[in-house]
Amino acid sequence: MLSGCRPATGTAAEELDATDPIAFLRDRFALPDGVVHLDGNSLGARPVSAEQRLAIAVRDEWGTGLIRSWNDAGWYTEPARVAAGIASLLGAHADEVAVADSTSINLFKLLVAGARLRPGRTAIVVSDHDFPTDRYLAESTAELLGLELRAVAGPDAATDALDDDVAVLALCHVDFRTGAIADAPGLTAAAHDVGALALWDLSHSTGALDVDLAGWGADLAVGCGYKYLNGGPGAPAYAYAAREHHAGLRNPLPGWFAHADPFAFDPRFTSAPGLGRLACGTPPLLSLLGLAEGVASLRGVTPAQLAAKARGLTGLFVELVDRYCPEVDVASPRDAAIRGSQVALRHADAYPLAQALAARGVIGDFRAPDLARFGFAPAYIRYVDVVDAVATLRAVLDGDDLGRPDFTVRTAVT
Ligand SMILES: Cc1ncc(COP(=O)(O)O)c(C=O)c1O
Repeated sequence: MLSGCRPATGTAAEELDATDPIAFLRDRFALPDGVVHLDGNSLGARPVSAEQRLAIAVRDEWGTGLIRSWNDAGWYTEPARVAAGIASLLGAHADEVAVADSTSINLFKLLVAGARLRPGRTAIVVSDHDFPTDRYLAESTAELLGLELRAVAGPDAATDALDDDVAVLALCHVDFRTGAIADAPGLTAAAHDVGALALWDLSHSTGALDVDLAGWGADLAVGCGYKYLNGGPGAPAYAYAAREHHAGLRNPLPGWFAHADPFAFDPRFTSAPGLGRLACGTPPLLSLLGLAEGVASLRGVTPAQLAAKARGLTGLFVELVDRYCPEVDVASPRDAAIRGSQVALRHADAYPLAQALAARGVIGDFRAPDLARFGFAPAYIRYVDVVDAVATLRAVLDGDDLGRPDFTVRTAVT
C-alpha cells in the first residue's frame, strides 16, 4: 500500500529535508548505511569527531602524557567546559550546570540536597509513571531523611499531592513510554505556590526539545548524556541548580572532587563555591570526552530549532502510521505541542515487531508490555528516514516475521 504512494510521499519528504534549517547537523554523525536509527532516545548516534578525539586521548594523552594530561591536556577543567555547552541547550547559565556521575546518582544528590533546602517539610512528590530509577531514588531519599513519599499516577495528578508539607516535586519532563510532555512551567509554578522546589529529569528532552529552565523557573534538574546529547554508552550525566540555590546546596555525596581545593587533601570538607560542589570523585575522562564531542555536534542550532524538527518528524511518522498501518495504535499524544521526540506504537506483538524492524535496519526498542518505541533525534534523522521506517513497518506487518521464534526471545537489553 505504502509503496504505491511512496514516490509522492518520498518527494514530499525530500522537500522537507531540502528545506530543513538544521539538516547540516547530520554530517556530524557516523551512521551505518542501510540503518534508520530511531533509538537516539536510548543511545545517540556517534559523532564523527568522537573517534579521533578518543583515539588522541587514549594514544597520546593517556599513552604519552600519562598523569600530566590532567593539567596539560585540560582533563581537569573538561567537566566545566562540557557543562557550559549543555547549559546552552537548557536555557541555563554556564555556572548552573555540573557534569558528573550518572543521572541516577545526580538525582539522588539533588533529591537530598533539595529536601534539605526545605527543612521542616516532610514529603517528596513523584510520579509512578516516570522512569523507575527516579521513583527508587526518591523512595531511598525519603527513607534516609525520614520523609513521606507521595507517588502519584502521572504528572497531571501531581498538583493534587502538593501542599505545605512538600519539600520537592520531582518529575520527568517526558514520559519515557509514551513521549507525553509534562507541563513543566505550570507544575513548577504549582510547586512554588506551596513553597516546594521543582526538580526535572530532562533525560528525554535535552538536545531534542525546547528546554528553558530559566523560563520555567525550575529549581533543579538532571539528565542523561548518552541519549540526545550523543555522548556514547554510559556517558556522564548533568545536574542543574538555579543560582539562587547554590549557596545552600549540600551534596550528600561530597567526595574530594566536590571540595573547594581537592589537592589540599584537607581532612575537613569545605564545599567548592559553585556547582563544582555537585561532583563526587574523579570524572570518567574518556566518557567525558565522548560527551564533549556529542554536545559539540549540536553547536550552531537552538533548542527551539531542534524541537521544531522533532515535531515535524514525529508528526509525519504519526500521519503515515495512521494512513498505512491502521492496525497499529499510536500510544503517544497526537497533539505535537505535548509530544516529545518519540512515538510509541501499541501492538500485541510489540517485541517481535521491534526485533523484525531492527533486522530490516529500522532500530527502535521495546517497552513492556506492548509498546514499540521510536525516537526521532532531530539532529540526524531525516524526513526520508521516517518514510522508510513506515514502509518497513508495513512490510513487517504484511510478512511472517512476527511469528518467527527467534524474534520472541527476549534479550537482556530491550
Ligand atoms: C528518564 C530517565 N531518567 C533516568 C535514567 C537513568 O539514567 P542512568 O542509568 O544513566 O542513571 C534514564 C535511563 O534511561 C531515563 O530514561
